[in-house]
Amino acid sequence: MSRMILGDEQRDILIIGGGTMGLAIAIELALRGARPTVLSRQFREAALHAAAGMLAPQAEGLPAGAMWNLCTASRNLYPSWIEKLEQLTGLDAGYWPCGILAPVTDERQRDRTHPMEADSRWLDTSELANYQPGFAESVLGAWWFPQEGQVNTRNLAKVLVSAARLLGIEVIEGITVQRFQQTPQGEITALESDRGRWSAGIYILATGAWSQSLLPLPVTPRKGQMLALKPPGQPLLNHVIFGDQLYLVPRRSGKVVVGATSEDVGFQEGTTVAGLQALLNRATAVMPELANYEVIDTWWGYRPATPDDLPILGQGPAANLYLATGHYRNGILLAPITAKLMANLILHQTGDRHLKAFSWQRFQAPSETRA
Ligand code: GLY
Repeated sequence: MSRMILGDEQRDILIIGGGTMGLAIAIELALRGARPTVLSRQFREAALHAAAGMLAPQAEGLPAGAMWNLCTASRNLYPSWIEKLEQLTGLDAGYWPCGILAPVTDERQRDRTHPMEADSRWLDTSELANYQPGFAESVLGAWWFPQEGQVNTRNLAKVLVSAARLLGIEVIEGITVQRFQQTPQGEITALESDRGRWSAGIYILATGAWSQSLLPLPVTPRKGQMLALKPPGQPLLNHVIFGDQLYLVPRRSGKVVVGATSEDVGFQEGTTVAGLQALLNRATAVMPELANYEVIDTWWGYRPATPDDLPILGQGPAANLYLATGHYRNGILLAPITAKLMANLILHQTGDRHLKAFSWQRFQAPSETRA
């Protein structure tokens, strides 16, 4: 994936971060005729590898307003975005609009205050059994969100890497960007890294949970532990199940991804007994049959969290710097719209209206405007 080219050669556009956002933006820019270069520290660190890949604005209980609009617009872009990437690469991204069931074990949880789409509805236990057998007796029914679904993030990672390669995007792996160099007027002139100096006309920061190492943005890691289960026989799950601090994401292979903890522990590595035990307890409480499944994998990753749970998108604190970070729990969902709006903004200076609510300036005192 990497080409052994060191810096000090002018690029058109430098994207810092080779995860979901960095690659999705690079691909969109390249499809529109631009020539981005991606500088990536370590692809396997990206939140993409840890994510379950749910496409779930309703199940996640997102608030009405700009975030709801952004997330539903992105989910609606998914079929065409995936088709474009699959056609380009010939690979299967594992996109599956399988619908999401949100089971309820307490009568009070039936009342939803978050936005829902017109075709979403409540299923009582007898209807629910037709959609999905196997729920525990404590489940009183479930909300059904037919427009939601999932993408297999391990497949998507391969698709994004392959698309970038086929489009001739220069992706340089194993490089740590250390700081920006800028003029007194605040324009970025170069990046200093452990592999030299890099300069371009335009810079895009897409460094997720690690963003604070380059800019004083309030993006912090929120660790998620996860595991995967294999059924002993025929797969049981037909839909994503979204419960209380729990989701079960069935892949087409029959494997079930179980997520996720949400821990404010910095970049503390590894899975813990307490984390995995909590997930397994919640999973078997909702679906007892899962106790017979085999645990085949465990892993963890870092969501890029912001104080208001909204991403940071758009023009950055320098005229030639753009930001696409802090996607928190919704990075996979927001990849298509982030790529589209950022490309509109960078190449045509349009779309800023949609990005206004996500500006970094919402966290900043008015005088602090420099990178
Ligand atoms: N999107 C689910 C999670 O971040 O755990």
